[in-house]
Amino acid sequence: MKLSIFGEKYTGQSGIVDLMADLGEALHTRPDMISMGGGNPGRLPEVEALYKNHLVELLETLDGAYNILGKYQSPQGDEVLLKQLAKLLRDEYGWPLTGKNIAISNGGQSAFYVLSNLLAGRFADGSMKQIQFPLVPEYLGYTDAGLEADFFTATRPAIEILDEHVFKYRVDFENMKVTDRTAAFCVSRPTNPTGNVLTDDEIRQLDAIAGENDIPLIIDGAYGTPFPNIIFDEVSPHWSENTILLLSLSKLGLPGVRTGFIVANEEIIQAYANANTILNLACGNVGPAIAGKLFQNREVLEISKNIIMPYYRERAFKTMDWFFESMKDLPMYVHKPEGAIFLWLWFKDLPVSSVRLYEILKQAGVLVIPGHDSFAGLQQPWQHANECIRISYAQDESMVKKGVEIITREVRKLYEQVK
Ligand SMILES: Cc1ncc(COP(=O)(O)O)c(C=O)c1O
Repeated sequence: MKLSIFGEKYTGQSGIVDLMADLGEALHTRPDMISMGGGNPGRLPEVEALYKNHLVELLETLDGAYNILGKYQSPQGDEVLLKQLAKLLRDEYGWPLTGKNIAISNGGQSAFYVLSNLLAGRFADGSMKQIQFPLVPEYLGYTDAGLEADFFTATRPAIEILDEHVFKYRVDFENMKVTDRTAAFCVSRPTNPTGNVLTDDEIRQLDAIAGENDIPLIIDGAYGTPFPNIIFDEVSPHWSENTILLLSLSKLGLPGVRTGFIVANEEIIQAYANANTILNLACGNVGPAIAGKLFQNREVLEISKNIIMPYYRERAFKTMDWFFESMKDLPMYVHKPEGAIFLWLWFKDLPVSSVRLYEILKQAGVLVIPGHDSFAGLQQPWQHANECIRISYAQDESMVKKGVEIITREVRKLYEQVK
């Protein structure tokens, strides 16, 4: 089969595709494998029951079923739902939004793909622009999104050691350069993979710099406010005319419905809706229909704040304590867990690469994500990128505990070999 450049790009080597295939294969061949690798949300029976009841109610009548199954919505999404979400965000945060500031997508991943390629890549005058990560590590899923090579650029973060075993990444504004090749800034807040939450000050500064340079600031809120609100400390949600906020139903426990939202100025929303027509004709209806129920009476805010966030917060700190206890004598650091559903572990001076550690752990029965693929856009090699792994603490508690034991055992062996 002869493939176009597009075909070659999308069938060629890709970190995320290889990794997802490997994770899938490992789980298939070894059902006892402890899964701390993927991004699946945890199971919360109370919330699952609520979604099921909403869906059953939506499908109870023939008209209800028709609305979900039998028609295309407009490419921007169901107007009633767009207005409903605009009102929710207006009421909650005072952002000056109408339905024209929002579009529905088939998940955050697809929204990012369309938006990043609308903003960056090759321009009519032959110039090339890039999406800039003010701070890496960033979400692995962005890495291969660009249609052009050299699509991302990134700045190393400053590392602040907070405690004997805790650190935090900060945007290194002194070394962050904006050039005429910068098309947009992009940050996930909370950050996948680290659980970092950029401070209000960092966000304000980024938006100001973006504004001065007439470029948008993309804030990927897949774990953020107002839903699923997996943020453990008080921070201010942010939107401005210059901000493109991406929201998703996935981490509420609904990844199967593939639904996300884009909140941006009207020009961006219109551009997105046009592109979405060509790519998808329209988005799926099941997720938006459930969202309509959840936005009614602001139920989505209640479950996010009172059930979902506390579940992950408890898990994060429990898992971190298990690592502290078992690795207290090792040069292990955890990124301060401030949100999302992962812990980011840094094994200082690890004698093997993070990919090798991933393989060793897989062999020992636990799946994690090696860190090195999360540094897209960095121009210079950085040893730190090879010393980190991401683990998810979302799954069954006893499994997570066992996973911590195995990771500790294997990492300890590696350090002991070089003593
Ligand atoms: C930061 C971030 N953005 C976007 C996505 C994609 O989410 P969705 O399921 O909405 O496509 C994920 C999924 O894990 C994520 O972690």
